[in-house]
Amino acid sequence: MFPLKMYLTDGAGNITGTAFADENSNNGTEEIKKLLAGGWLPVEYDYRMTQRWQSVLKRLGLESVKMLYGDGTFYKTLYAGRTEPKVRIGVLGGGRGYTLAEFCRQSDIAELVAVCDNDPRCLDSLRERFGDGVAYYSDFDSFLTHETDLVVLANYANAHAPFAVKALDAGKNVLSELLPVQTMSEACELADAVDRSGKLYIYGENCCFMAAPKKMKKLFDIGKMGEFRYGEGEYMHDLEKDWFRHSHSDPAHWRNTMTAFYYCTHSIGPLIHVSGLRPVSVTGFEAPYTEKMRRMGAKGAPFGMEIITLENGALIKSVHGVGPAEYSLWYSALGDAGKLESERNILGGEGSGRLYAKTEPSSLENGVTLLDSKDEDTSDGLTELAKGFAHGGADFYMMYNACEAVRGNKQADIIGFYEAMDMFLPGMFAYFSVLDGGVPKKIPDLRDRAQRERYGNDRRCVDPAVAGYQLLPSYSKGDPEIPEEVYESMRKRLREFYATGDR
Ligand SMILES: NC(=O)c1ccc[n+]([C@@H]2O[C@H](COP(=O)([O-])OP(=O)(O)OC[C@H]3O[C@@H](n4cnc5c(N)ncnc54)[C@H](O)[C@@H]3O)[C@@H](O)[C@H]2O)c1
Repeated sequence: MFPLKMYLTDGAGNITGTAFADENSNNGTEEIKKLLAGGWLPVEYDYRMTQRWQSVLKRLGLESVKMLYGDGTFYKTLYAGRTEPKVRIGVLGGGRGYTLAEFCRQSDIAELVAVCDNDPRCLDSLRERFGDGVAYYSDFDSFLTHETDLVVLANYANAHAPFAVKALDAGKNVLSELLPVQTMSEACELADAVDRSGKLYIYGENCCFMAAPKKMKKLFDIGKMGEFRYGEGEYMHDLEKDWFRHSHSDPAHWRNTMTAFYYCTHSIGPLIHVSGLRPVSVTGFEAPYTEKMRRMGAKGAPFGMEIITLENGALIKSVHGVGPAEYSLWYSALGDAGKLESERNILGGEGSGRLYAKTEPSSLENGVTLLDSKDEDTSDGLTELAKGFAHGGADFYMMYNACEAVRGNKQADIIGFYEAMDMFLPGMFAYFSVLDGGVPKKIPDLRDRAQRERYGNDRRCVDPAVAGYQLLPSYSKGDPEIPEEVYESMRKRLREFYATGDR
């Protein structure tokens, strides 16, 4: 366990001293007592500081103490005997939403109060799992009237934006699953809704919280890596075996109609989060359509690639798709001072759970400890609790941070709306680039209201109900023919799957 951190500040709020103490040793407790008496204050610098400090205060018989953020500014007054209220969570969509709802069962900071799904079979299985203490809805508008602090949108990936706008306008904080929007027009509407609501919009790019990318961000944030220059992200996921289930064997399901570029934030997102930089242009490359995709009933190419330029000239190569032969979730980040790389998944590698790190002696200021490790320590104050949770614990971190942000912790690691766009728009504009013969495309910045004006009527996407006359094909060379028998045989497998009693 990491030691507790304390600051001494002068009257003007400048940090004049930093101390660390181990609350689990007798010496440490005595030391903390002395420091508190001398005006030193607890610092929010790792997960679960509130809980740890509350038990220290109880042990020392102290009622309350002020707590500071890492920059020395005031965070909150901590009370030994006061339990902070749990974040009340409502979840829309019981597939992926089931996993996110599960967080509430395993965490002491959140409580599941309502779920919504318009598929009765799905709702039944949620009821079976989460019991009578939770309210069940099949209609989103009624669900929104339920008292919640955070609404998790885990409905169809191409339908999040209108639900997010409604929820924000109803005064809810929102956590949206992938992807944030399906058109520029929706992006502009959502930007307006985020701005006018004053509520939190949190994007659920869970890969940012896998051990390797999470530590990569920390190392760049503390200046250990120098300036970000180049990154590679790979999310190659062979989903053929379970596609009948993932796509509901429905030709119109988003998984069957999406382009190879749509599901792009697993590979791009963590690198944007690590770099803290905005993407400014992109060129797209699309792999040729394959028989495997036809067998799956999917109309997009098996994978797509983006080459992205960031605002400082740094480059990102991103590749992702649902139709490659092997699984790979992999990241690397090069800074002026060295390189970080997650392990490869192939041949038993631990993938993004493990980090290689190397920095060079010449490139950093004197006195900085150099990195040279094939197993960089990625642990923190949440590691033990997150063990066993989905996606290498990343889903636990994502939900934990979202709840902390809702509770008012400004240091919580969340992805806001504009950063979500920085993760998503490179994929969308990479497809526009492909459709335009490989010409690089500028990536809009919706923080700038003038750009919202420009893109307000841009409805280009693969969903006919949204695109109208601006409809795009799922594959750049035209929608491939998929015989109806493909879906018929998948539907048969789906019926058999449900007949066995599994979800
Ligand atoms: N981050 C990750 O690792 C990860 C993994 C899987 C899925 N996802 C995301 O989770 C979301 C859901 O994916 P999924 O795999 O559960 O499959 P899905 O998209 O098929 O499931 C959506 C669920 O929402 C329900 N739903 C849709 N519209 C509704 C409405 N208007 N009212 C009530 N219920 C409605 C459906 O009945 C269904 O149960 C997608 O956005 C997907 O991108 C993320």
